[in-house]
Amino acid sequence: MNSTCPPFRIKVVEPIPVTTREIREAALQQAGYNLFRVPAQKVGIDLLTDSGTGAMSAAQWAHAFEADEAYAGAQSFQRFERTVRAITGMEQVLPVHQGRAGERIVFEVVVREGDLVPSNHAFDTTRANLERRGARVIDIPHPSSRDPLAPAPFKGDIDLERLEEILRTSTSRIPLVLITVTDNTGGGQPVQPSNVVAAARLCKQHGIPMWIDAARFAENAGLVLERDPESRGRSPREIARQIFDLADGALMSCKKDGMANIGGFVALRSRELYERLAEVTIATEGFVTYGGLAGRDLDAIATGLEEALDPGYLTHRLGQVRHLHASLTALGIPCVTPPGGHAVFVDAGALLPHIPADRFPGHSLALELYREAGIRSCEIGTLMFCGGKDPKPPDSELLRLALPRRVYETAHLDYVAAALGRIRGRARELPGYRILEGHGPLRHFTARLEPVPA
Ligand code: F0G
Repeated sequence: MNSTCPPFRIKVVEPIPVTTREIREAALQQAGYNLFRVPAQKVGIDLLTDSGTGAMSAAQWAHAFEADEAYAGAQSFQRFERTVRAITGMEQVLPVHQGRAGERIVFEVVVREGDLVPSNHAFDTTRANLERRGARVIDIPHPSSRDPLAPAPFKGDIDLERLEEILRTSTSRIPLVLITVTDNTGGGQPVQPSNVVAAARLCKQHGIPMWIDAARFAENAGLVLERDPESRGRSPREIARQIFDLADGALMSCKKDGMANIGGFVALRSRELYERLAEVTIATEGFVTYGGLAGRDLDAIATGLEEALDPGYLTHRLGQVRHLHASLTALGIPCVTPPGGHAVFVDAGALLPHIPADRFPGHSLALELYREAGIRSCEIGTLMFCGGKDPKPPDSELLRLALPRRVYETAHLDYVAAALGRIRGRARELPGYRILEGHGPLRHFTARLEPVPA
């Protein structure tokens, strides 16, 4: 099965909004040059995120219809719990309304003011939730991730030398080490099982729990299957399980590899910690058998988690990302290489060298892509990462083209590539941007900006 033969066919269709350049220019001005503020009906192809934007399968809809909406102990929860236990091997399961709710609940219980959390790369909400607790995050991705064009297969790995050094010398308390699979921030890059084995060993030596941010655990398994000679012949489920087996707990946004439009979970081994998390969940999220979700969401996720591990689905999914990556590369557009699991990351810093990092080249490219062709994407660079406490300038200024699951066809992706190809021809004319309003680690969601000639 390759990317030219999707392992599904279309049963329901939705029209794509059609806009003119004038409509889009006006929308940008009104939105303060922030694509998060542009209404979706003015977006043609929406590659802002792969989160909650996928198409559910007929089986997911069918199970959602059969759902049990009981407040406590619903059968839908039992199916959800059974699936999460089977995939993660973790006995304690708490549903939450989305990934960041799980982050907030876990960090409220285990993280204290002044703590330090090492990670390969903490996602922006994860970082924000840790900072809200007064903790610091230290991202220590593998050195190969620093060069966007280096063809290293596992750029999502954590830097083990740095981890060892931090665990040995840190004067701050370390409540957990967090491994994000795949590494979204670093380009959707996979983490190799042997890297997690080594990280887990270090954590164990120092008596520190290791947690997995599992938002894209299935895509990680699919990429490991393709790239890790040691994992050849294994199933995505076995590869995913090997990683879960090494961890004390997992945070999951089911809006990604849960194949659902909403939802998440916290899974862990310790009953004692579960009881403490349950208390916070009941007070702030919902009873422990629904966690802010409807029964129908729990059923859609239970089915979706299984579908995400289907080898045919993963081959198609990863093939789509590879196809877009190859099309852009052929047009001379520099992209983070090799492609990751959920998105193509364009090296906007390299494409727009005349725009300095503090004038947001990734953001400038995102705005131009919308202006040109009605395509919405997202900056992953200085705008996103440098609004928080002690900001560390990112290694590269990227534009993320995130592919919703099972939504767009190859022809859509070719349209995206062609639009970027046209922009490349006049890249030097693109302006930089300056923030007029908005601050803090999540400023990219709400900021208003204005163009400044580069
Ligand atoms: N962890 C990772 C690795 C993520 O990519 C995200 C969300 C979250 C946690 C938070 O989950 O959205 O369900 O609360 N990422 C989305 C994105 C928003 O566009 O990459 P959530």
